[in-house]
Amino acid sequence: MFSDRVLSGMRPTGSLHLGHYHGVLRNWIKLQHEFECYFFVADWHALTTHYEDPSVIEDSVWDMVIDWLAAGVDPVQATLFIQSRVPEHAELHLLLSMITPLSWLERVPTYKDQQEKLSDHDLSTYGFLGYPLLQSADILMYRANRVPVGEDQVAHVELTREVARRFNHIYGREPGFEEKAEAAVKRLGSRRARLYRELRTRYLEQGDAEALESARALLQEMQNLTMADRERLFGYVEGGGKVILPEPQALLTEASRMPGLDGQKMSKSYGNTISLREDADAVVKKIRTMPTDPARVRRNDVGDPEKCPVWSFHQIYSTLETQQWANQGCRSAGIGCLECKQPVIDAVLAEQKPMRERAQPYLEDPTLVRNIIADGCERASAVAQDTMREVREAIGLTYT
Ligand code: TRP
Ligand code: SF4
Repeated sequence: MFSDRVLSGMRPTGSLHLGHYHGVLRNWIKLQHEFECYFFVADWHALTTHYEDPSVIEDSVWDMVIDWLAAGVDPVQATLFIQSRVPEHAELHLLLSMITPLSWLERVPTYKDQQEKLSDHDLSTYGFLGYPLLQSADILMYRANRVPVGEDQVAHVELTREVARRFNHIYGREPGFEEKAEAAVKRLGSRRARLYRELRTRYLEQGDAEALESARALLQEMQNLTMADRERLFGYVEGGGKVILPEPQALLTEASRMPGLDGQKMSKSYGNTISLREDADAVVKKIRTMPTDPARVRRNDVGDPEKCPVWSFHQIYSTLETQQWANQGCRSAGIGCLECKQPVIDAVLAEQKPMRERAQPYLEDPTLVRNIIADGCERASAVAQDTMREVREAIGLTYT
């Protein structure tokens, strides 16, 4: 709402694979050209589940950043940082915890689901209950309005919206709000002020959501507003107090169509992955030994691509022409399975080649990655400090 900002995080809990690439990273790479993007390593989030064995976090952080860079995330366009290097996240999490009812956290579906799923970890901790609230702090810190997440994380963005609304409701009421907002309207200049008033009336009297959107767009274009005026004017259109923490929207990432080698979802826990920068020989071997339609025992047994995980790979990697060739060849026993796999092998290797190349300089000189992250942390900190100044002020924690 303040500007078009995107924020997303990833937990460092192991190396990334092609499922992450097709499910998440390709989307990030697209977004970085369209919006101001913040992508970060959610190491504290990883700690909520891996607190007994944090070494995997330490081992994964830099590899994960290299994977991002290898995939094409551009540190010039996007800000890349590590959550724990911007300790303001912890401060905002704490302050939000003061106003968040326990029941809101207990009813987030991932809370019970993950406890059941990861039953070998003891997740009846304070930190784990607060997982989605820490995520809210991540999002609200950057006043991000778009949060690319998978289906399972939508409830966390929803919680974030509720927490932001509650925060603004409790702390956005300043004495003399109406007068200050009116003064801010005048500072828009007469033409814009008239338009702003018109839109506000249309929204408040007729509930016209388009008018609300237009008013927001109008404010967004205004570069020279002070942060405080901006917050007032955003809040004033809706009739309320200041909007200190704007509500984000989930940007639902389409579920990855990338299956694992065995046809199930690609996941480390199923042991069916191809890692992002996996060695070419290992990739060839993995695909060559992939299971196929069990009906094709001998070369001249006909098969059904719908029963074969290789076919799912063709659907991602092959042209329609190649798909047709595989489909017909399978159903008529015109081709053998190894023959059928070859174009998939070639396509996966071709996809990975530039990734391995992009990773090379970072592997040779780790300080390059350290510097990218140091720079990103600095940029992120500047935004975080701004937000925290506003937040402390709104609560009354400045003691001047
Ligand atoms: N919980 C997210 C996941 O498991 C990671 C994450 C942490 C995140 N903070 C975030 C994602 C903020 C989006 C925005 O994938
Ligand atoms: Fe699978 Fe191709 Fe073999 Fe058919 S021919 S079973 S699609 S690998």
